Parts: sequence; structure tokens; C-alpha cells
Amino acid sequence: MKLFIDTANLDEIREISSWGVLDGVTTNPTILSREKMDYRTLIDAILKLVDGPISVEAVNEKAEKIIEEARILSKISENIVVKIPITPEGLAATKVLSKEGVKINMTLVFSVNQSILAAKAGATYASPFLGRLDDIGSDGMTLLSDIVTVYQNYGFKTQIIAASIRSPQHVVDAALIGADVCTIPYKVFTQMVRHPLTDKGIERFLNDWKKVKK
Ligand code: E4P
Repeated sequence: MKLFIDTANLDEIREISSWGVLDGVTTNPTILSREKMDYRTLIDAILKLVDGPISVEAVNEKAEKIIEEARILSKISENIVVKIPITPEGLAATKVLSKEGVKINMTLVFSVNQSILAAKAGATYASPFLGRLDDIGSDGMTLLSDIVTVYQNYGFKTQIIAASIRSPQHVVDAALIGADVCTIPYKVFTQMVRHPLTDKGIERFLNDWKKVKK
């Protein structure tokens, strides 16, 4: 499973990247609005930090405008992936853009049907939002599992990004189900690496090291 970080914060990206575990980055307008830097400077800085797919969302709603915007975004770097929300206009744009080789991350996926349409339109990635489904009392993991099954049934090439991740358990479940990618907030990365028995074990080894004859 590839690990992306779901942030545009350069310090967070730099830190997780230094662990040697980062395959890419996802952003969205909300994530970009949290940063002080203008978004173009930010995207350029992220591209310098991570050599992998960097998702940036198109904000136009009409297919023609989405296509225009996506072409401009994709010209920034071959690592740019354009996020397009799953709508009829978004699908139409994805069909055109995918034929041109523009990589699309079809976003805001909340149903198996939407994921089928994203794959048929030629999206490189589809992003089911697990946490947001859980938030409304639905089951994000069931959706992820169903999408994995359907994509396997038909050999769809679209990669599934488990998105809207809220906890380390979400990452484990996404991995067990077989998501191609998990896009993880910084906080969850820091939770993933920690275990109380690791901390306790280090403390004990360091204490015992003091007793070793040197
Ligand atoms: C995915 O690419 C989105 O940026 C993200 O996972 C949304 O998550 P949220 O529900 O925490 O906003």
C-alpha cells in the first residue's frame, strides 16, 4: 500500500518524508486554506519535497472549465494529479483529460456506483472518503471493501485511495481490505509509529546498557 500524506503543511510533509515512508501528497481547498503561503508557491515547494503524485483540486464546476484548469495544473509538473469531484461534469472532463494523459484523482466518492463511473471515465485514482461516511453513521470500510471487490471483478486499473482517514485503525483496515493507497493526516502518521511497549522497551534497553561491562 502506498502512503500519501493528506496535508499542505510543509513542516509536516518534511518530517514524514524524512521517515522514508512517503509516496505522495493529497491536498484540497480546505487543506490549502489552512496555510499562510499562496497556493502556487506552496505546490511548488511540495513538489520539491516529495517525488511522487501530488493531488491538487480543480475548483471549476463546468466540464469545459475543469478541463482548462486541469490542463494548466498538470503542466506544472508530471507529478501533479488533478482532483476532480465526482459529478456528471467532472466525469465528462475526466474522460477528455484521461485520454490526454492527465492524471485524475476522482474525489468525494461516497458510493460504489460513483467509483464504477470514475473507473469507466479513466480516472487514475478514486478517493472514497471513509471518515466522512463514519461521521454520518454510515460505514466507510464497507464501502472501501465493496469498491476493491468490484474493481477486482472487472480488472479496473483505477487505483483506490482510502481517504478521510481519522485513526491508525482506519489505516490497518484499509491495508487489510487492499486499498492501493492510503492518504493519511500528519497526526495519524505520528500515532502509527508509536506503541507503549516500544517506548517501555527502549527505556529498559537503555537502562540495561548502563549495566553492560564496557
Ligand atoms: C482526500 O484526498 C481528502 O483530502 C481528505 O482525505 C479529506 O478528509 P477529511 O474528511 O478529513 O476532510
